[in-house]
Amino acid sequence: MSLSPLPRPVILDGDPGHDDAVNILLSHASPELEVLGVTTTFGNVGLDKTTRNALTTLALIGSQTPVYAGADRPLLVPRLSAESVHGQTGLDGPLLPSATREAEILHAALFIIREVRVRPGEVTLLPTGPLTNLALALRLAPDIAPQVRQIIWMGGSLDVGNWTPAAEFNALCDPHAAQIVFSSGVPITMFGLNATHQAVATPERIAPIRALGTTVGEVVAGLLEFFAEHHRERYGWEGGPLHDPLTCAYLLAPELFGTQPMYVEVDISGGPSSGRTNCDLWNLTGRAPNAEVVMTVDADGFYALLTERLGRL
Ligand code: RIB
Ligand code: CA
Repeated sequence: MSLSPLPRPVILDGDPGHDDAVNILLSHASPELEVLGVTTTFGNVGLDKTTRNALTTLALIGSQTPVYAGADRPLLVPRLSAESVHGQTGLDGPLLPSATREAEILHAALFIIREVRVRPGEVTLLPTGPLTNLALALRLAPDIAPQVRQIIWMGGSLDVGNWTPAAEFNALCDPHAAQIVFSSGVPITMFGLNATHQAVATPERIAPIRALGTTVGEVVAGLLEFFAEHHRERYGWEGGPLHDPLTCAYLLAPELFGTQPMYVEVDISGGPSSGRTNCDLWNLTGRAPNAEVVMTVDADGFYALLTERLGRL
């Protein structure tokens, strides 16, 4: 009788946010993972709202996973936010249950440090927002860098941005934090816009989720339909790219993705390209790769996996 491997311990760090919320649900629907905690940051909306949204998402599935609030602003640059995409609450659209508890007292960065020190080499970090919490943890406790198993980040882009012509939102929110993480030596897999824009939540992909006939299915379908509105107006697409849950899916089904190692550096110049993730696709710098950049996504395979897993909640 073959024993199933132990669940992989992960920490979800994000700015819920419609797609962050779906990442929380997918992670909790997957027995391959042990979600140690959800840490929150400013990003799509302010920290108080992203933290409440994380607690609300967990309340939807009756989860007691602890939530730890983190950075309420970037390290240096002025704070951005994306109410134009996610609405004033950060989770506009479907009616959600009220959170039934508060976040923990411990700061997110200190929680990350504690968990990595207690489980050296085991913890995978799934940041899906600005990287400020991870940067704070790495600066407070440089000893944890070789002890983090892997970072799988939704952010950056091989090519164009979505908040400026050069920069993707998460990277632009805190370019200095992103550069601290990319220069930390921790193994990073980067889901940039070049990858996530391959996974648009079209009506044909939302329909099977609603057809689950469950509260979770109805809520996720509602979140994706709201998320589609901005992208339909801005890009003329049939839906919104479901950025963040791709990070979790990479752990569940890596065969759905193609990656390429390359050197990535974040522009912190403060100029018009600030926040751009400069990806050395052709090794022009001669610098050793510091990231696996996701290049291809099997979108139909991802939505089949997502729908099946959501059906378990
Ligand atoms: O640019 C897309 C990213 O920014 C996603 O993670 C979205 O949730 C926002 O955080
Ligand atoms: Ca996010």
